[in-house]
Amino acid sequence: MKTSWEIRAERFARSVYPYIARYVRRGHSLVDAVYFAVNEYNFDKHRNVQVSSGACRVCLITSDYVIKMDYNHRNCSDFGGCYDEYNTYLEVTNDGYGHLLAECSWIHIDGARIDFLAMERVRGVGKTRVTNWTEEEERYIRRHIGDLHRYNYGKKNGRGVIIDYACNRT
Ligand SMILES: Nc1ncnc2c1ncn2[C@@H]1O[C@H](COP(=O)(O)OP(=O)(O)O)[C@@H](O)[C@H]1O
Ligand SMILES: [Mg+2]
Repeated sequence: MKTSWEIRAERFARSVYPYIARYVRRGHSLVDAVYFAVNEYNFDKHRNVQVSSGACRVCLITSDYVIKMDYNHRNCSDFGGCYDEYNTYLEVTNDGYGHLLAECSWIHIDGARIDFLAMERVRGVGKTRVTNWTEEEERYIRRHIGDLHRYNYGKKNGRGVIIDYACNRT
């Protein structure tokens, strides 16, 4: 059963994808295409979607969910991480610690050349590393998740959740 943010995220991915695909067809890199597409999409649909890009992923940030896409920056040998991130979510949830990660879900659009990882948006990213986790929860996360700097944490219901768990040791 999909929760409502997942349904909204999937609808959004379907409506923004044609804009991205058009710029890619014109020969732009995926990350450039995403910036151009989101500008145009915001203008057409009167929306205010933000774009944030790192070394190998680009994120579309709305008020209640985030959509992540893999790409390969020319200065970086790594590629993406969305699929690893999704698998980490399944494994951590299976271990009973899913509440320590922001929820995510995989979006595949038939015929599209890229897949999307949707994640619930959480607040307070980068503000603090105080998590209010138990020692056992801290231990579990330290053992299984890498890259734990404060820009990869947010807050949900007063407790820390991780928003970037692509780098994992599960
Ligand atoms: N679930 C989320 N809620 C709020 N902001 C997010 C979320 N996911 C990503 N972001 C924002 O996007 C930035 C990049 O996302 P991240 O998953 O860390 O990608 P990267 O692999 O490029 O580090 C984060 O530092 C954060 O500012
Ligand atoms: Mg990150």
